[in-house]
Amino acid sequence: MKLEKIIPEAKDFLPLLGTDYVEIIVGNAKQAAYYYMSAWGFQPLAYKGLETGSKDSVSYALRQDKITLVLTSPLEHGGDYNRHLNEHGDGVKNVALWVEDATKSWEETTKRGAKSAFEPKVLEDENGRVVISGIHTYGETIHIFVERKDYGGAFMPGYRAWNPDYKPAPVGLKYIDHMVGNVDWGEMNTWCKFYAEVMGFAQIISFDDKDISTEYTALMSKVMSNGNGRIKFPINEPAEGRKKSQIEEYIDYYKGAGVQHIAVATDNIIQTVTELKARGVDFLYVPENYYDDVLDRVGEIDEDLAPLKELGILIDRDDEGYLLQLFTKPVLDRPTMFFEIIQRKGAQSFGKGNFKALFEAIEREQESRGTL
Ligand code: FE2
Repeated sequence: MKLEKIIPEAKDFLPLLGTDYVEIIVGNAKQAAYYYMSAWGFQPLAYKGLETGSKDSVSYALRQDKITLVLTSPLEHGGDYNRHLNEHGDGVKNVALWVEDATKSWEETTKRGAKSAFEPKVLEDENGRVVISGIHTYGETIHIFVERKDYGGAFMPGYRAWNPDYKPAPVGLKYIDHMVGNVDWGEMNTWCKFYAEVMGFAQIISFDDKDISTEYTALMSKVMSNGNGRIKFPINEPAEGRKKSQIEEYIDYYKGAGVQHIAVATDNIIQTVTELKARGVDFLYVPENYYDDVLDRVGEIDEDLAPLKELGILIDRDDEGYLLQLFTKPVLDRPTMFFEIIQRKGAQSFGKGNFKALFEAIEREQESRGTL
């Protein structure tokens, strides 16, 4: 399919095949892997640690359908991983993008102003070769370009396949729909410009502080997408309000810009959320009166309203269809990163109704944390 057909403004000098993996630096990778397997239904995929010759860090790679999570912890005193943990707490370090040519991706983006994180390098083992390169984006987050067409191993050279007996069933998560970055005051446009100029993305929608504000606080958001629509990066910044915005709370605790949430798609949100709740995942509370007039706002939907209301699933609409969404509470100790579960029924973009409902739900949590 031609890129121009989907998002005509996007440039195709950086063709992206999809999200390759998301790497989270955590305090205890072994236990985090157990959480994502038990609660979220990720399957064990690959492991790297002392036994494979990795002296400074340990990583567990987990997979569910097209989503690959990597959980990494330091094994040594000091060093960059410990500094990252001290600074940010657990958090996303690498958002890896799957490309045909990692060398060309690095050249095209650095030529357009990206700051290099590392030059293209070849990783090899008995299963073939992977080429990776990296550029910096907001905060300490890095985009790694991954070229894996000549690789047949479980995940990456350096890892070995990991196949423990313990494999809780998947919960129906399919792919990463979008990943949201929180940036500091006045930086949203800088980073949207970065995605447009350096990576060839186009803006598909924007919400200003009038769209997303409550009695107390406000934020602004723009959604950037690559040409084929597989990679969507909304960027949020705080806006002036009477009290402290959730984006400021994030930035205070994360100590800077970073990934706020990872949205994962399912074909059956009712089933997926029911299962996640049963396994202990905490979701944001949606007040019952949200459902009083929601169908007047979004029109007819295929699902019964009762189970959506019971689970607190939000409904919104754009020009092309509707979407169902639900947000977890932060999955880490600091009030920073959370997940979103999303099911698209025709809608390719986002609606502002859900944004506001999410914002109000987080505000209730902020109140309880004393950070509003
Ligand atoms: Fe989202």
